[in-house]
Amino acid sequence: MSENLKGKVAIVTGASRGIGKALACTAASLGINLTIAARQEGPLKETADEIAKKYKVEVLAVPCDVTKLEDLENLVNKTKGKFGKIDILINNAGVSSQYPFQEQPMEDFERLAYTNYLGYVRLIRLVINDMIKNKSGAIINMVSGSTLCDPLPRNFIVYSSLKVGLRAFSKGLFWELRDHGIKVTSILPGVTDTDLTGKLKEITQDTSRLMTTEAIENAVRFALTVPQNVCPLEIAVINQQTPWTAPVIPFKQQHPGR
Ligand SMILES: NC(=O)c1ccc[n+]([C@@H]2O[C@H](COP(=O)([O-])OP(=O)(O)OC[C@H]3O[C@@H](n4cnc5c(N)ncnc54)[C@H](OP(=O)(O)O)[C@@H]3O)[C@@H](O)[C@H]2O)c1
Repeated sequence: MSENLKGKVAIVTGASRGIGKALACTAASLGINLTIAARQEGPLKETADEIAKKYKVEVLAVPCDVTKLEDLENLVNKTKGKFGKIDILINNAGVSSQYPFQEQPMEDFERLAYTNYLGYVRLIRLVINDMIKNKSGAIINMVSGSTLCDPLPRNFIVYSSLKVGLRAFSKGLFWELRDHGIKVTSILPGVTDTDLTGKLKEITQDTSRLMTTEAIENAVRFALTVPQNVCPLEIAVINQQTPWTAPVIPFKQQHPGR
């Protein structure tokens, strides 16, 4: 994948709103034709029309639940049917969940794992052989800045540990695919002002600490436009005063000699 992106084709999941919509706009602004995916058809179609009109690219809206293998297969088939190829995959669809572990509903684990981990791995598996055949492709996975915390942020440990797994998978995939001309990039966003964070009451108490999607858009534009022989493996875009990275043990920053 090189800096000349006009006419390339990208799938963006979770693109009806939030970070995914912003990234679909970024890709469209580079002349990339798009398939966008999310579960709810209405908002997805609205977003597709908005992007097509604004950026003068072709945009196909495919309703898709990334937890379902048959929906992922349909997404890939519909994209290949319309555009004949898939050059870029922006794996972004995700759900969050905030609970003390002992209170987290059992069904939450499966939902999180299928959306935030398996959905990503399965979709990559469905597109990867064509990319290998073309000796070209770019995969961008939306991980999370919370994976930089050790221990993981309280009340997010199932969400964040799945993102840790995704981050490890992405790095491994980079090594495995680099000789095929395929780039794999993880984006690690800090806490961003979207519907997803709107539900997380604790961290939105101080909204001035939330990021807009702008820095994430810049990170993805960078990943897509670096020279052919460069792959940004990971880009962390973290809030200056991110709500969840306060030290676990408070300490006084005082030199012992003073
Ligand atoms: N916001 C943050 O602070 C933050 C920080 C770090 C990482 N992230 C990651 O960034 C990604 C996007 O988050 P966001 O903040 O933009 O969330 P958001 O505003 O809630 O948007 C989520 C998008 O994903 C879609 N989606 C959810 N479940 C889906 C499913 N099963 N199948 C297909 N589409 C699905 C939603 O549409 P439907 O509901 O119609 O399906 C929507 O388009 C997620 O992977 C999240 O973990 C977010």
